[in-house]
Amino acid sequence: MAFVDWKPEYTVKSDTLDHQHQKMFRIVNQLHEAIFAHKAKDVMGGIIHDLVTYTQTHFAEEEQQMESSHFPPQLFQAHKTAHEQLVRQVREIEQRYLRGEGNMSPDVLCFLVGEWLLKHILSMDKQYAPYMNKREP
Ligand SMILES: [Fe+2]
Ligand SMILES: [Fe+2]
Repeated sequence: MAFVDWKPEYTVKSDTLDHQHQKMFRIVNQLHEAIFAHKAKDVMGGIIHDLVTYTQTHFAEEEQQMESSHFPPQLFQAHKTAHEQLVRQVREIEQRYLRGEGNMSPDVLCFLVGEWLLKHILSMDKQYAPYMNKREP
């Protein structure tokens, strides 16, 4: 059973972005499995690295879709700032892990699931959902 599942009510009304969110859930589930299976450092490091790069890919795509919709610029700016902060936090997790200063603990998972997946998707990402089918011609 997966640690955390994407649910249809998390939809942001864009198939591309919903698929990307689903992939982010899968990476967090892989990390959860790796932690509890005590996987080797390089395996864990690889998953964390996937998380960092995929987060950046996803945020770039999301920002591009928001910009090409009628999403209000002030909300867009706040969203971009939130993305920058999340990228910094995920990179920091990776750096700390690579330096051996802290294990991948359940606290990290709680942060990733709570703050980064659920809170961000349900509060900020949901804001652009109504604009997703009203694109520029
Ligand atoms: Fe976002
Ligand atoms: Fe997102």
